[in-house]
Amino acid sequence: MKHRITLIPGDGIGPEVAASVVHIIEAAGAEIEWETHYAGAQAVEKFGETLPKELLESIKRNKVALKGPVTTPIGKGFTSVNVGLRKALDLYANVRPIRALPGVPCRFPELDLVIVRENTESLYAGLEHIVVPGVVESLKIITEKASTRVSRFAFEFARREGRKKITCGHKANIMKLSDGLFLDCFRKVAMEYPEIEADDKIIDNACMQLVMRPQQFDMMLLENLYGDIVSDLCAGLIGGLGLVPGANIGEQGAVFEAVHGSAPDIAGQGIANPTALLQSGVLMLRHLGEREAADRTENAMFEVFTEGKVRTRDIGGTAKTAEFAEAIISKMK
Ligand code: NAI
Repeated sequence: MKHRITLIPGDGIGPEVAASVVHIIEAAGAEIEWETHYAGAQAVEKFGETLPKELLESIKRNKVALKGPVTTPIGKGFTSVNVGLRKALDLYANVRPIRALPGVPCRFPELDLVIVRENTESLYAGLEHIVVPGVVESLKIITEKASTRVSRFAFEFARREGRKKITCGHKANIMKLSDGLFLDCFRKVAMEYPEIEADDKIIDNACMQLVMRPQQFDMMLLENLYGDIVSDLCAGLIGGLGLVPGANIGEQGAVFEAVHGSAPDIAGQGIANPTALLQSGVLMLRHLGEREAADRTENAMFEVFTEGKVRTRDIGGTAKTAEFAEAIISKMK
């Protein structure tokens, strides 16, 4: 079956990793017609807006998108396209599997953990204003509706994937109302899933435990900002940002993207690691029901990692992005 997928190459290293991933996925035999759309600064140049309506309509129509990173200006300029996209399509759950890859040197080679991040509210709502010069207020929005639906998503995921335990990370000792509500919703939903262990940890302690003994965690449920920070921390446990995939899921569709950003420090050099976006592509293929192409891609990627001859610079090799992609394709059976 031929799938029509929205492709957002993004900017910075985005187009470099996206080109390699498209090449690999096509070599794996998935029949895909890509609808390419621009976002962020590139879209402003072409359409005068960061999130053109053609892009949103394309995702609504196709229900699935593969997305490279998009730069957000710091401290000024337009608001995040990534956050805007998640809000516009109500992609409320962000799934980030943290799994070490065979042969890739890292601190915790046995780690296999899934982070579910609430994707639509918290301080990420970006509701800030100047009260008086020199004083700024930033609002943390937590609602019962969003906290309950993402909790239910996490427990349903755990049930489907055979996961045993979900740990909710929070700071309800200090933010008694906002984080308190998130935690209450988690606990209420947990009662509907007695076979899955539910516990919680204050987020600062959870970070320390993650660095010392991450194997104690099976799944984590986090509000938006903690989820953002903790998933980068977890990427570091298994070899870095170049490796970790992600999926933004909602009722209207799913957008698959790497955890990392546009990496301006290495953009344009052809040295970025495409693995994170490739693994996001594998999640996308599974979501589409393309099991064979997903397995073929994943097995070829595992083989290249296990051999250890062709690796990008971030994980100790010298290979260019395109060389790494060719090595994977050469292993496909
Ligand atoms: P970043 O993730 O782009 O880079 C952090 C570090 O990791 C850099 O040293 C970079 O070279 C390295 N890195 C990241 N991805 C890599 C890859 N595939 N291969 C090799 N090395 C890799 O984070 P940073 O610098 O904080 O953000 C840069 C821009 O990206 C910002 O404008 C930010 O807003 C945006 N961003 C976009 C995201 C998205 O589109 N979903 C997510 C995170 C950040």
